[in-house]
Amino acid sequence: MSEGRLIALEGVEGAGKTTQAELLTQWLIELGIRFTAAREPGGTEVGEAIREIVQDRPELAVPAETELLLYLGSRAAFVREIVRPAMDRGELVVADRYSMSTFAYQGYGRGLDLDRVRQLDNFATGGLRPDVYLVFDLPAEDGLARQWHGHAGGDRIEREGDAFLRTVRDGYLELALSEPGAHLIDASGDAAAVHRRVREVLMEALPETFSTEGV
Ligand SMILES: Nc1ncnc2c1ncn2[C@@H]1O[C@H](COP(=O)(O)OP(=O)(O)OP(=O)(O)O)[C@@H](O)[C@H]1O
Ligand SMILES: [Mg+2]
Repeated sequence: MSEGRLIALEGVEGAGKTTQAELLTQWLIELGIRFTAAREPGGTEVGEAIREIVQDRPELAVPAETELLLYLGSRAAFVREIVRPAMDRGELVVADRYSMSTFAYQGYGRGLDLDRVRQLDNFATGGLRPDVYLVFDLPAEDGLARQWHGHAGGDRIEREGDAFLRTVRDGYLELALSEPGAHLIDASGDAAAVHRRVREVLMEALPETFSTEGV
């Protein structure tokens, strides 16, 4: 029986987090590894309500501090209602975004003090850090270009424009070097190629969970 693990997928909009989360969970099914997958913000009832406020209502004026606290409000419920219980059951948790998003967007992007952001995030998570961060790296423009194929309009962050997202991407590049458990993954190839890299990284980072059988 494997003990619970938390894997978080990170990166700018359109980097391929959700696509890779789906490919990862398909692989987990093949390997017979029990898992829970959820997205952030959201995943819980209150979290989905917060997601609606912070992402789907670009007409609202939301100060950076308010934005930070809304995301953290969602995360506090996410950890307590989803992540911890699943880890206690011995499951692997796949999180589509987690704390690193807050560091990158509200810290680097919005310019809030990073130490303060980390302290507040630590309060929200109760100190729960991922075992592995998969940081999908793609130039911000390329991520946006992928998104525009999918839908028009864009949420609050997507409307911030290229300069903001470039700052966020640079933040991710720094965080990928400094954050424990972080692995930078080039997200510019096709989805299958990126997924192959995800497998390699996970087999190396969590060898007791990901044996090579079934690969
Ligand atoms: N490696 C890839 N190459 C080309 N297109 C891709 C690749 N991965 C995903 N896509 C496409 O790019 C778009 C964005 O991908 P996806 O939704 O997985 O990104 P995301 O990181 O989850 O974005 P968001 O931050 O907005 O949730 C989708 O239309 C998806 O099909
Ligand atoms: Mg997504």
